[in-house]
Amino acid sequence: MIASHVAAVALFVQPHFSFPRGAVTNEEIGLRWIHIVAAIVWIGLLYFFNLVGTPVMQRIEAPVRGKVFPALMSRAMWWFRWSALVTVLVGLRYYWLILAADASNAGDPSLTYRWFGWWLLIWIVAFALIYPFQMPTKGLLDNAWVRAISIAIIVIVASWDTLVVNSGNFSSNAHLSISVGGGMGLILFFNVWGVVWRAQKRLIKWTRAAVEQGTPMPAEAARLARWSLIASRVGFWLSFPLIFFMAAAEHYPFLGGISI
Ligand code: HEM
Repeated sequence: MIASHVAAVALFVQPHFSFPRGAVTNEEIGLRWIHIVAAIVWIGLLYFFNLVGTPVMQRIEAPVRGKVFPALMSRAMWWFRWSALVTVLVGLRYYWLILAADASNAGDPSLTYRWFGWWLLIWIVAFALIYPFQMPTKGLLDNAWVRAISIAIIVIVASWDTLVVNSGNFSSNAHLSISVGGGMGLILFFNVWGVVWRAQKRLIKWTRAAVEQGTPMPAEAARLARWSLIASRVGFWLSFPLIFFMAAAEHYPFLGGISI
């Protein structure tokens, strides 16, 4: 009885599809889809490393760790670094489209280049300032709170500066929100390729040689492992405000149209 009703309804009530027209709209949904999938892989592995991988690796016996580490990390680091690259490249293209739309609304297409150029410069300088605070060292700078507060101040100042240079009557909420969240995403990206992968690829090679040929681990190994851990922790904590600003772009209009 119910089945016949459902069949009757299905016969008469056709689902209605009206796909949006326009190249930009369709490109944006494609970019958003790829961006979110790649971001899930990237941030998923970042959370795995911080919440599961590192604590477990620290607890298992050295012979077991010697076997598990190269196999697990070579595969995990492959997905980690390439998903980071896809997330950022697709994100940058989407961000460019948002800037171009705001610039054309402002009647000055050259604003796209100026907004993007200043944005990139600010976050590259921010990463250069953060870099020494992630290095394994001795004394006061090795205090976790000193590192955390120094890096937080640099990120807050960079976020404020990027809002100042990008703000204006035609700057949309998505433009300003991604200027901050995307900037934090750049810091995470530079950490993946500029710190974590550089350290992990050597640790994987040395651990394999230690297990297969009995070659002793270089003294440098402990320092690289700590450097990679600190950079991964910075990414872990920055990912929370980052994802807030990503989600706020289209769903929480608290920045658009401001003049600072
Ligand atoms: C770890 C890094 C990143 C993660 C986890 C991430 C995550 C996300 C998520 C989940 C969305 C969808 C939000 C929504 O639909 O409400 C989004 C949108 C977006 N992301 Fe990212 N993102 C990251 C890095 C970046 C970077 C580096 C950029 C480049 C500047 C970027 C640019 C964008 C843009 C332009 C959007 C669309 C905003 C809009 O809807 O108007 N993202 N991101």
